[in-house]
Amino acid sequence: MLPESFLTQLRFSCDMENIASSYVNLKRAGRSKVGLCPFHLEKTPSFHVYEDTQSFYCFGCGAGGDVITFIMKIENLEYIEAVKFLAQRAGLPMPEDSGADDRTARQKARILEMNRETARFFHACLKSEAGKAGLSYLLGRGLTPATITRYGLGFAPDSWYALVNHLRSKGFRDEEMGLAALAVKGKKGYYDQFRNRVMFPIIDLRGNVIAFGGRVMDDSKPKYLNSSDTPVFKKSHNLFSLNFAKNATGNTPRRLILAEGYMDVVAMNQAGFPNAVATLGTALTAEQARLISRYADEVVIAYDADEAGQKATARASGLFSEVGLEARVLVITGAKDPDEYIKKYGAQRFKLLLDQSENVLENKLARLKNQYDLQTDDGKTRYLKAAVTTLAELHDTLERDIYAGRLSAETGVLKETILNRINLVNRQKYKARQKKEWREITSGRTLYQDTVNPDRAKHLKEALAEEGIIRFLMKNPDYQDYILTKISPEDFVTAFNQRVFRIILEKIKNNITPDLSNLVTDFSVEEMGRISGMLAKGQGLDTGRRELDDYIRVLLESKGNKDDHALQQMSAEEIMALYAAKKDS
Ligand code: CTP
Ligand code: MN
Repeated sequence: MLPESFLTQLRFSCDMENIASSYVNLKRAGRSKVGLCPFHLEKTPSFHVYEDTQSFYCFGCGAGGDVITFIMKIENLEYIEAVKFLAQRAGLPMPEDSGADDRTARQKARILEMNRETARFFHACLKSEAGKAGLSYLLGRGLTPATITRYGLGFAPDSWYALVNHLRSKGFRDEEMGLAALAVKGKKGYYDQFRNRVMFPIIDLRGNVIAFGGRVMDDSKPKYLNSSDTPVFKKSHNLFSLNFAKNATGNTPRRLILAEGYMDVVAMNQAGFPNAVATLGTALTAEQARLISRYADEVVIAYDADEAGQKATARASGLFSEVGLEARVLVITGAKDPDEYIKKYGAQRFKLLLDQSENVLENKLARLKNQYDLQTDDGKTRYLKAAVTTLAELHDTLERDIYAGRLSAETGVLKETILNRINLVNRQKYKARQKKEWREITSGRTLYQDTVNPDRAKHLKEALAEEGIIRFLMKNPDYQDYILTKISPEDFVTAFNQRVFRIILEKIKNNITPDLSNLVTDFSVEEMGRISGMLAKGQGLDTGRRELDDYIRVLLESKGNKDDHALQQMSAEEIMALYAAKKDS
């Protein structure tokens, strides 16, 4: 356990707002600051940071907690690692013998060490006799020795035990190799995961080798083999070559290029475009879109020219629009992907192509236009309908106006008519969404399974009262005696709230302030979110003694008639509260 004095100092040095704003663009809104939630996709900000309670809460997805919870979630770290991370950022030395080098941290360090050793081994193999085929393959694809070195490319020998034997000789155990996804356990023990492939190490922003991708040298399948997720690697959260690209975005606007393949990225790098990244064998994820938006103001999607590439482009541009990042589309003609284009036409032409990249909407409209025959009235009408649906997705009214104007000039239909249609489409969409949510609420079937407090939906009225009491007690610990003369933890109806109440009472008894930062070790990250939500939802309400007494009364009354059906009991206002909480999730 970490000493209290250290934690106090850490909290003092790591201001919630300051830390959060290095990940989220925050704007003042009343007593809190708001921004787009980094933990779920949303278009309107519902992520709040509270100065007074040093906490955050997202009304959309329910993520919340203190500054340590925030770092655990956003950096994907364990509690102790998050503390270390913050301490380092604040320049505080970690206390000696704090248990900070706990098992998981040690294990991660071992895996990273092993990965680095593996990368070295593969690279040495590529340059040795055993790796001749690999080297000539890479050179044959037009890579220079300098590029091969820069990326630390390597070769996994055509053998079942080359890497396993090498790592054993360096003192690593077979189970560790399995954990790192470098070896696979078979009937006769562990054998090499990667065999007879050219190897691409995946390197994170701190320069750690976190995974590998291996390509065959002929047409056999699978073409690529990628490390599965390990304790140091989550493929949905990382990007190939971001370590180089993040320093090469240029300024105003900072720009990244997103390609499909490792080879595309390496080829672009060699051709003088080091600001390129690729996903790691999966389609783009929301986390990756957000990661890109952290380093760039603008992204150029440079996917393959084929049908699959175009589909993936549409999907990716949707994700970028949701994280609020300006996306452009590279239209490649005469080659299948950036790698081939550069090889065929050279870096100069590729630069031109980049400069001509279209914004996503123009690209979409251009493709729509190709689908219809604008010479006929029918074709024109159908084009207009499709275009209106596309324009309705624009959030920016100014943009909408501009494109409606262009569409009007193109088709001869009045701009006002087009704008009216756009509004109509949006109203219909809104109504349909409301109807669906209402059906879900009134059918008692909740949108999500409440795993933190499963009793809550069934006893909403009581749960709200319990949360009011908890909130009051957290803010006014000296009211504990008063509260305890009226109710006890057993009066709490929902299990989770009862546990929170008990733990808070215990803290107060031990002279510990019951604020969020002192609860981190007692609750999971999800549970912290819930508690943070109780505080956040009370921000508007002025919770004084009167409200406290009301909450207590509700709880005591419910003891009398246990079999009330919660939903029937709910006031319209309470249903609306439930409704509001779900609106954005
Ligand atoms: N990919 C994968 N597994 C496969 C095929 C592809 O993980 N069986 C991933 C790889 O990350 C690859 C990317 O999808 O880089 C794009 O695939 P593709 O265009 O086929 O590969 P390239 O890297 O462009 O390779 P090449 O130019 O050698 O065909
Ligand atoms: Mn490709």
